[in-house]
Amino acid sequence: MKAAVLGATGYTGGVLLRLLGAHPEVSQIIAVSSSQAGQSARAVDPGLSPAVEEKMGRQDGKLVTLDQAVKAVSAGEVDVVFSALPHLKSAEVCAPFLGKTVLIDLSADFRLKDPAVFAKAYGAAMPRPDLASRAVYGLAEWHTEQIRSADIIAVPGCYPTATLLPVLPLAKAGMVQGTVIVNAISGISGAGRKEKIDLLYVERSENVNAYSPGTSHRHAPEIAQELGAANKALSLLFTPHMAPLRRGMAVTTVVELAVKVSSDVVAGAYRNAYGGRPFISLAADRVPQTREVWGSNRCDIGWKIEDGHLMLFSVIDNLVKGASGQAVQDMNIRFGIDECAGLPAGGEL
Ligand SMILES: NC(=O)c1ccc[n+]([C@@H]2O[C@H](COP(=O)([O-])OP(=O)(O)OC[C@H]3O[C@@H](n4cnc5c(N)ncnc54)[C@H](OP(=O)(O)O)[C@@H]3O)[C@@H](O)[C@H]2O)c1
Repeated sequence: MKAAVLGATGYTGGVLLRLLGAHPEVSQIIAVSSSQAGQSARAVDPGLSPAVEEKMGRQDGKLVTLDQAVKAVSAGEVDVVFSALPHLKSAEVCAPFLGKTVLIDLSADFRLKDPAVFAKAYGAAMPRPDLASRAVYGLAEWHTEQIRSADIIAVPGCYPTATLLPVLPLAKAGMVQGTVIVNAISGISGAGRKEKIDLLYVERSENVNAYSPGTSHRHAPEIAQELGAANKALSLLFTPHMAPLRRGMAVTTVVELAVKVSSDVVAGAYRNAYGGRPFISLAADRVPQTREVWGSNRCDIGWKIEDGHLMLFSVIDNLVKGASGQAVQDMNIRFGIDECAGLPAGGEL
């Protein structure tokens, strides 16, 4: 497999290079950078392994321009393009690739189906409404069959991934009702590698706060879209928080049970939905922690039944299962490769 990565010097671009560098089926990588083309990838990011540089051998281990990548795609030299660019930029930059290769987009540009919902969330028109129905929402365990034949895969946001994976099987089975109340905590890398005052160490360390509560967070309509597709009767109350962690995401969801069920019945619903899937780990009555999934592509799910309500606890690494890992998982599914190839299931210590 030959892969190109756009936005190679960003956080998710850097994780993509690491994962593709270790991927047994990927032989060539083209790493595109708008800011540092012509530089050696390992000089820009000394944390990259020599294996990444070897796979970038045709470009002498250097970051390249978008034009170079467009030429390689036009010459049929690229099987898959990963775009790790900001929303509203990604669809525009990727236009020359559409129809020529498979696009796996980590931005929000192809995630939402309704242009009006997109415009409200992102304050600008949906870049390619003509492609909204063609793009497949890349929640790997949920839309597996559609991913197999997709040519545009929209990798979900990190909050939606960590929220939807525990809720969807129960929503679809009609086990829950009313409002799905989500309180979510993200590490700071979730905001990208930006120079912003409120992302500075002094502002963030020893400090936790809710931000963009309710529908004011851009991920709320994305969660609502998928929740509504599973069970129209459910509504959503979403409150994200930022905590002084480099990476990691913990989500606590509370929802009323529609029927009286035992913990074993909940476990059964998860086994029906995810049995045999390598990156869903059921923690049952143990509350999972972010440190257990650092560096891994897993989503760990715990739950507790209390007073007619279900409390769900889910954790992911926002840069892996919440972004680049899920993107590689989507690639594996799309190209009929072992779903686990190149993806860590174990967490780092
Ligand atoms: N961080 C997360 O946890 C996370 C999770 C899920 C999804 N996402 C999504 O994934 C995408 C990348 O996120 P990230 O966290 O990696 O962001 P990031 O660290 O800010 O990196 C984005 C990269 O895109 C390139 N870029 C920035 N502005 C550009 C512009 N105007 N035109 C062209 N290229 C530009 C830059 O790389 P070059 O200079 O090398 O081109 C930049 O480093 C975003 O759409 C984000 O919403 C992020």
